[in-house]
Amino acid sequence: MPDAAATESRTVPRVSHPLDPLTPDEIRRASSAVRRAHDLGAGMMFETVSLHEPEKSVVQGFKTGASFPREAFVCAFDRTNGQVFEARVDLVADTVVDWRHVPDVRPRILIDDITLVGEVARADPRFREALARRGIADVENVQVDPWSAGNYGLPDEEGRRLCHTFCWYRSEKNDNPYAHPIEGLCAVVDLDRAEVLRIDDHGAAELPRANRNYAARYRTVYRTDVKPLEIVQADGPSFTVEGNEVRWQKWRLRVGFNAREGLVLHAIGYEDGERLRPVLHRAALSEMVVPYGHLGGGHFRKNAFDVGEYGIGVLANSLTLGCDCLGAIRYFDAWLADSKGEPYCIPSAVCLHEEDFGILWKHTDLFTGEVDVRRARRLVVSSISTVGNYEYGAFWYFHQDGSIHFEMKATGIVNTAGLKPGEAPRYGTIVSPGVYAHYHQHIFNMRLDVAIDGERNRVVEVDTVALPVGPDNPHGNAFTIRESVLANELAAQRSVDFNAARYWKIESAEVRNALGQPTAYKLLPLSPVPAFASPKSSVGRRAAFMTRQLWVTAYHPDEIHAAGRYPNQSRGGDGLPAWTAADRPLVDTDIVVWHSFGLHHIPRPEDFPVQPVITAGFALHPSGFFTENPALDVPPAKSSMSCCVD
Ligand code: NI
Repeated sequence: MPDAAATESRTVPRVSHPLDPLTPDEIRRASSAVRRAHDLGAGMMFETVSLHEPEKSVVQGFKTGASFPREAFVCAFDRTNGQVFEARVDLVADTVVDWRHVPDVRPRILIDDITLVGEVARADPRFREALARRGIADVENVQVDPWSAGNYGLPDEEGRRLCHTFCWYRSEKNDNPYAHPIEGLCAVVDLDRAEVLRIDDHGAAELPRANRNYAARYRTVYRTDVKPLEIVQADGPSFTVEGNEVRWQKWRLRVGFNAREGLVLHAIGYEDGERLRPVLHRAALSEMVVPYGHLGGGHFRKNAFDVGEYGIGVLANSLTLGCDCLGAIRYFDAWLADSKGEPYCIPSAVCLHEEDFGILWKHTDLFTGEVDVRRARRLVVSSISTVGNYEYGAFWYFHQDGSIHFEMKATGIVNTAGLKPGEAPRYGTIVSPGVYAHYHQHIFNMRLDVAIDGERNRVVEVDTVALPVGPDNPHGNAFTIRESVLANELAAQRSVDFNAARYWKIESAEVRNALGQPTAYKLLPLSPVPAFASPKSSVGRRAAFMTRQLWVTAYHPDEIHAAGRYPNQSRGGDGLPAWTAADRPLVDTDIVVWHSFGLHHIPRPEDFPVQPVITAGFALHPSGFFTENPALDVPPAKSSMSCCVD
């Protein structure tokens, strides 16, 4: 939520690089320029005011101190008629350089809408009647969660900006409402008219009354054997930060942030001797979807696209030392625009720190007894967002061996429903008497604008194949690899293959290592999930990215969001399926790799009343990028040096 006090106390960032996020002054200037040139009147709302990222050539050719273009992307709409417009603002000239109407799309659900939905629903007599039928008279204790409405072709919903809702009851102010689902009551709220379009009453279940609280305020008994565990970095951390650029253990990267994708990493490179070798031009979560598997009670509409429909950046937490992060921390604030186009700050939205990561490598010489071991540490760049009942923590890890890991941590409270009398819990797990958590999935799509030793790359699928037993494989033990170049976009829509131990390698077209191999990174799909929603279903059409673990596209600056720029209430078909229909060639050109991965969530009782972190992610490992273990030069830890001295 915009916090005026927090916004006041922040130091105002300066712009020193073309990829720096917009400053508060730039946000204000961008929205003012749009208002001056194209005022939409009293109904004007700003969905987005963010950096229009410069062309790659501007970033690559940038020299410190030199001037550079600076543009904002603005999405505004008129809530009196639902019309959506996009603008590009030249911030140097203070002028709108592009303004266009985007027909038949819906902007994101805004922060303003989140509170509006509850107020509108609770004031509606039909909603109150439905609550009364359930024996609930204290309407002020009813929480109304604003869910994206999706698109189910209902004629009365056509053309409107909507939220679909589910309701919960709080037995007191800080009570966990998800222990008390008000089953079967869904309001469809027209956000622009601020009115209830329709009440869908799917039939009541008894309100589960048992309180299930987890918060410290409710707990008096704790385990008593937790001793302090202090992280001491007497000489400070090993990273340096200049503006938004981070340097750590030969890695270089830039931290960016926007309302929609949240954390964005740019210009990731590795210092190899005198060379700064590019690895990724840009990496960000392009979309995610959470399809639920229950077919009735309005629950079939639960399939939030938390990035494109809400904005995972808008919903970022302010992180706190000692709780979210430990050690010597460097925080980055996020400056975003509210619905009036005014800047506000989420203080400490991104955390940067390093942590011990066990052993990096080790060998004991069996015959001499000599031991060589190095301890690993990793650099962590993270951000945590609260999307309704759930928390998502985006954690990037950089390692001393040249590898990069991404982990999405999911925690918070599972979405619950009330069991109707006599209903068998076929589509969920009972987590409390009368309360069940539906089967669902969280499927993420990471957009990786790869740049392995330059922009000209190719993707190679690597399968392992067993040779048939016979004269050529007399002992039946032989296996080898089969490499296939993914030559164009349709052929590059790929799924994991357990039986082939499949992975994908992104190779440089230009650079070979000293062994004569193309320099490369491999993408390891660590958390593949099959999508269970039919491709023909509404969510299947709208989130086609979830049907494949790998998509590869020819680079285009406007292709950023896997389900399209406007997934909210979309009919589907946008984003990856639309772009790849062109079947562009992918070999030795500027390409983008899109990886879908996720959590298949059959809830457990242990996920309630607050869920321990579960994770999904992937790894990028150097594969011929170096010619030997690049971490041989990591010095032994002081304690091991002393114990190794004869
Ligand atoms: Ni889940």
